[in-house]
Amino acid sequence: MTLTYNTYLKMPELLSLQKVQSDPPEHDELLFIIIHQAYELWFKLLLHELEKVRRDLSAGDLYGAIATFKRCRTVMKVLVGQLDILETMTPMSFTSFRDRLDTSSGFQSTQFREFEFILGYKREDVVKYIDVESPLGQRAIQRLDEPSVVDTFYDFLEHHGVTIPTELRSRGRREPAVPDETVQDGLFELYTTRDDLGILFELMTDFDEGQQEWRYRHVKLVERTIGAKKGTGGSLGVDFLKRSLFTSVFPDLWAIRHRL
Ligand code: HEM
Repeated sequence: MTLTYNTYLKMPELLSLQKVQSDPPEHDELLFIIIHQAYELWFKLLLHELEKVRRDLSAGDLYGAIATFKRCRTVMKVLVGQLDILETMTPMSFTSFRDRLDTSSGFQSTQFREFEFILGYKREDVVKYIDVESPLGQRAIQRLDEPSVVDTFYDFLEHHGVTIPTELRSRGRREPAVPDETVQDGLFELYTTRDDLGILFELMTDFDEGQQEWRYRHVKLVERTIGAKKGTGGSLGVDFLKRSLFTSVFPDLWAIRHRL
């Protein structure tokens, strides 16, 4: 059968996946579903790209890593920008169908956890919110046990003569990445002597800033939409989300900026 736009992209299937729960349908629920599904598709792409970043960094492929981080950084900007659309939904409108969400919450986004874990922001305490028996939950658990982008960044730095302390290398896979002064000294040296590597470090900083921006914009969206209400996932809501604001995934890149 000849492929067409609709068959290649599986349009009938795709367009049948937006099922509103409200009855009669509340106007804004379709937006709410589509925006979350769009995010999940972008998360899927980011995971695909970050797997490539890990390969590029481990192999010392500078140009590959630059090209891929540039793409990831750009996707991050789209993710941040998309929240504007959801902010056109008023608190009253959200309230009209919020009860229908039951206990479903962004807390249960296994791909978002994969995203955090692959980067090196490993936090086992959030695993309790996902269904670890499901295939998607299993994938998130698997990410906890894989080397992170930060681990492969160490490979890359080592390739360029930076000493990576053995304590960093021997840490358990489930431990979150931590800042380290020896790594920072090596990074500083490369930043100031290797303009080509500096391009990669700047892109990684852009990306890191982007994921922090997403957290900030999400908290503000939540605050303007539900205020001090608790989350459907059972957390305190805004107060809980505020705790992960300003969490950087590449802390060593931030720690040296005053020296540059
Ligand atoms: C009206 C819109 C939204 C509201 C009111 C909202 C509310 C919340 C709340 C209260 C939490 C904390 C967990 C809980 O107790 O439920 C949360 C977490 C989360 N939400 Fe949203 N959210 C909204 C839109 C979105 C969108 C569009 C995404 C895109 C994927 C998203 C992704 C997430 C993720 C990934 C978490 C976990 C964050 C973490 O653990 O740091 N949310 N959300």
